[in-house]
Amino acid sequence: MSEATSWVRKDLLGIAELSAEEIRLVLDTADTFREVSERPIKKVPTLRGKTVVNLFFEPSTRTRSSFEIAEKRLSADSLNFSSSGSALSKGESLVDTALNLEAMAPDLVVVRHRHPGAPHLLARRLESGVINAGDGAHEHPTQALLDAYTIRRRKGRISGLTVAIIGDIEHSRVVRSNVHLLTKLGAHVRLAGPRTMMPVGVEGLGAEVVYTIAEAVTDADVVMMLRIQLERQSRTLFPSTQEYFSVFGLTRERLTAAKEDVIIMHPGPMNRGVEIASEVADGPYSVILEQVANGVAVRMAVLYLLSGARREAA
Ligand code: CP
Repeated sequence: MSEATSWVRKDLLGIAELSAEEIRLVLDTADTFREVSERPIKKVPTLRGKTVVNLFFEPSTRTRSSFEIAEKRLSADSLNFSSSGSALSKGESLVDTALNLEAMAPDLVVVRHRHPGAPHLLARRLESGVINAGDGAHEHPTQALLDAYTIRRRKGRISGLTVAIIGDIEHSRVVRSNVHLLTKLGAHVRLAGPRTMMPVGVEGLGAEVVYTIAEAVTDADVVMMLRIQLERQSRTLFPSTQEYFSVFGLTRERLTAAKEDVIIMHPGPMNRGVEIASEVADGPYSVILEQVANGVAVRMAVLYLLSGARREAA
């Protein structure tokens, strides 16, 4: 296992504050953990005696399961907190909930919340390390790290690649974390979507902005499709899912403009027939399930590095 000597952060709250060296350290550390999931006995004692609380206040399939599996493969003890059935329904606040759980001495807290900044608030109040598992439309750092890890494994590099990210840019935390990460590592990022789903000031993100899927896909090395986040939209931004698919859906025909060895990514959950055709999602260029598999190694790396930082600070 590589020694993580240069990781000094207590928390992982976003990609914006990470340096390119810190990002590479996470990806390199994930490389050392990847083979654990290929062993007959998928477990190492690295975090034996450590406790991780998974605090999910929003629905999740991939992120929650992936953190839980990563914790188990590192031999940590996990507590999965669910807001339904908790004292939140009796009026207890987020901070009080977290302080009460911290009184039971966890080492790390993984938090997903619909409010941007909720993990930052907890990080200021808790002694435990805090990992942002998605805060509103702000950031989803471990998703961007697993996306970068998948690109690097497939392409051998990130620098110099053209990565097209297409869909509901305004409401996506995945896009924000990915733009920060990919530009720090030297990729050219191209954002595309309907004008109604572009945030004000999108030009300032450091990515090229286009408004047709044809422009976005042309000569792309990587095409990342995004779901329309109806739960974060306060008004109707497109006439119908059929019309959205006809204008912005990724089809086999549209993909022919990309590089011959293009890879197709999606953070999930995927809406087939809305942003992506099934034949593309299940086709030979798709690495969508590889992203999910790689998420375990990347989250093992993050848990390891953050618990290591806490050991050094003690
Ligand atoms: N990619 C992602 O965050 O998926 P979940 O919402 O299922 O965790």
